[in-house]
Amino acid sequence: MIIEPVINGVVARTAHPLGCEESVLRQINYVKHAKPITLGPKRVLIIGGSSGFGLAARIALAFGGSKSDTISVSFERGPSEKGVGTAGYYNNIFFKKYAEAEGRIAVNIHGDAFSKECKAEVVEAIETYFEGEVDLVIYSVAAGVRPNSETGEMLRTAIKPTGESVSGAIISLEDDTWHEVTLTPATEQESEDTIKIMGGEDWENWVDALINVESIANGCKTIAFSYVGPEITHPIYLDGTLGRAKIDLHQTSHSLNLKLANFGGGAYATVCKALVTKASVFIPGLSPYLIALYKVMKAQGKHEGCIEQMQRLFSDKLYGNQRIPVDFERLIRMDDWELDASTQQEVSALLDQMNSDNFKQLGDYQGFKKAFMQLNGFGYESIDYTQPFNLEDFIPEESD
Ligand code: NAI
Repeated sequence: MIIEPVINGVVARTAHPLGCEESVLRQINYVKHAKPITLGPKRVLIIGGSSGFGLAARIALAFGGSKSDTISVSFERGPSEKGVGTAGYYNNIFFKKYAEAEGRIAVNIHGDAFSKECKAEVVEAIETYFEGEVDLVIYSVAAGVRPNSETGEMLRTAIKPTGESVSGAIISLEDDTWHEVTLTPATEQESEDTIKIMGGEDWENWVDALINVESIANGCKTIAFSYVGPEITHPIYLDGTLGRAKIDLHQTSHSLNLKLANFGGGAYATVCKALVTKASVFIPGLSPYLIALYKVMKAQGKHEGCIEQMQRLFSDKLYGNQRIPVDFERLIRMDDWELDASTQQEVSALLDQMNSDNFKQLGDYQGFKKAFMQLNGFGYESIDYTQPFNLEDFIPEESD
């Protein structure tokens, strides 16, 4: 079949396997030529390793100097009569192909990270492939839903402000249009549900499960990703439901740090840069900021994607250092370049002028859209998208 891009609003409904392979290969190529990770972890578990920061972390660790073996958990869909499947599904397949070709262990586990069954399956994989222990646990889940463990009822992430309504713009990637929206404040229940899904609880459950089965190696570290952003984004992010969840995650990092200290290790919330991913384009009001940020950081020569962020995290901050550099709240800051005063001054001047008529000229909308298309395997010049592609070989088996 010929696979064409189908976008509904900010959601990609199709993905191209060849483009996903290209995306994985480009990231591998980047880390092979970047500053290498020294004294890195050998056995890594990534929860949410099929796209965005989790996939980039997996690639950086496997190919960027430390030659790590990896087990990754993700929630993706393969091809079926319902559709071609998700980009993350193909990313998993191609990561495994290239990692194994270089002698790495690369295990993909498909499942719901929040469930006990998935945790049990991972513990078994750690026994089988890692001789029972992990050296690093990365928590990189961005989820819209989570079943309530007691009732089974589905909880949903609500991306909303708290306290007061907030106005902002959404940019539809389907037809490149700008829409002003006003978001009403979240109810207490919506805030709580969002904290349950995007806060620290499940991260802690994972680490507890690994401690219980004695799978934490001496010196084991764990990280989870957060976002803070400049003041202009606070009404929708830091002061909203997602920000409350992230603050919960920061607090969890402290309790996990105490637990892992018993093993000579540590836990860190890692604040990353705002980037186009499957998850971030969902956040109303963030897209104008992203296109202004991309424009300014590219012009300043400081733009990074997920892979650059992750390689810098592991080579400069988390490994090879006597002490891990953290701020006064014990956060690792990978958003240091984003929040640089000169960058933020230019971004905010640009945002002041940006509107529905000029956003494509003033902001880096082309770069934003290209990044989104490439996340889903489209928009690579090297690929002839007019050629039919056979999905037969990619139909999911019971396990891979
Ligand atoms: P993403 O959408 O690219 O990746 C999310 C991952 O979570 C995927 O591997 C997906 O399969 C997995 N996942 C979702 N639900 C799952 C479930 N129930 N069970 C197992 N796996 C599941 O998202 P992105 O942006 O890489 O987000 C990862 C983390 O980074 C999130 O905590 C996010 O808040 C944080 N972050 C993102 C920033 C951004 O601008 N994109 C900035 C700073 C932090």
